[in-house]
Amino acid sequence: MTRREAARLIGATAGGMLLPVDALRAQAKTESVAMLTRAIPSTGEKLPVIGLGTWQAFDVDLTPDNRRQLGDVLSLFFKLGGRVIDTSPMYGHAEEAIGELTVALGIQDKIFLRAKKIDLMQVHNLVDVQTQLATLREWKSQGRIRYLGITHYEAGAFVDMEKIMRSEKLDFVQINYSLMEREAEERLLPLAQERGVAVIVNRPFGGGDLFSRTRAKPLPDWAAEFDCHSWAQFFLKWIVANSAVTCAIPATNKPRHLEDNMRGGIGRLPDAKMRQRMVELVSSP
Ligand SMILES: NC(=O)c1ccc[n+]([C@@H]2O[C@H](COP(=O)([O-])OP(=O)(O)OC[C@H]3O[C@@H](n4cnc5c(N)ncnc54)[C@H](OP(=O)(O)O)[C@@H]3O)[C@@H](O)[C@H]2O)c1
Repeated sequence: MTRREAARLIGATAGGMLLPVDALRAQAKTESVAMLTRAIPSTGEKLPVIGLGTWQAFDVDLTPDNRRQLGDVLSLFFKLGGRVIDTSPMYGHAEEAIGELTVALGIQDKIFLRAKKIDLMQVHNLVDVQTQLATLREWKSQGRIRYLGITHYEAGAFVDMEKIMRSEKLDFVQINYSLMEREAEERLLPLAQERGVAVIVNRPFGGGDLFSRTRAKPLPDWAAEFDCHSWAQFFLKWIVANSAVTCAIPATNKPRHLEDNMRGGIGRLPDAKMRQRMVELVSSP
């Protein structure tokens, strides 16, 4: 069985809420979806709150089956209002796959990624950060990139990130933040708001571990109060309800998961009291 056939089969048997790929495509064509947006503080340009991560998920050879499956993911992503795609030369084949598929779909100039001018370039994991930031500043002044920033995926790096956020003018930071990794809300997220820095959230599902943690738990009825109908939407809505967050970038290579995740950026969001209730539920044994 190919990955695409497996994805179709899983999609078809997962119950009423998740639909097989073709039905999703038809639905996406007709549906008017109001994805929530947030402004990039340094310019006011608005971005949809749910983007797409590509680490591992897009690190594959573009065989005909992979090409079709990932093409479905990207096409749905765009049709459902997604624009921000995160990739890196450190993600194996992912950057190449995204480049090739977005050109084939004719969406490369419409997404927040890279075309003739790169939208956002960030120093990956603070590697040689001062040298790289100097280069990015030069490229920004030459008009080669539109925004610059820094990334990390571990709370252990937040002290260093904080120093850079205080001493440098950044457009973006990308950090880990989720119901199981909440450290960013102590200092980094308030600081980003204070300094006018946009925040992209990586590892929104803790790399997938949040699904394992909640496997034995039913989604609570009260999740419907903020238009939430799956655990993925629960995890994403908790993140984007923090007003310091500009967008979250969950990774998937499955069309039905993509559609699920995009719904995490639609409808009502939990308030502070509800967010606390969500923390307690996920933290409880
Ligand atoms: N700059 C950095 O230092 C850095 C570091 C880490 C991550 N990142 C970026 O952030 C992105 C996201 O982080 P991540 O990939 O580590 O982890 P993540 O997005 O927190 O979790 C991805 C996992 O969740 C699963 N998943 C996705 N949607 C799902 C759904 N609706 N239902 C059930 N399972 C679902 C995926 O499996 P399926 O594929 O089966 O859906 C995958 O196993 C990365 O891809 C990358 O672009 C950047």
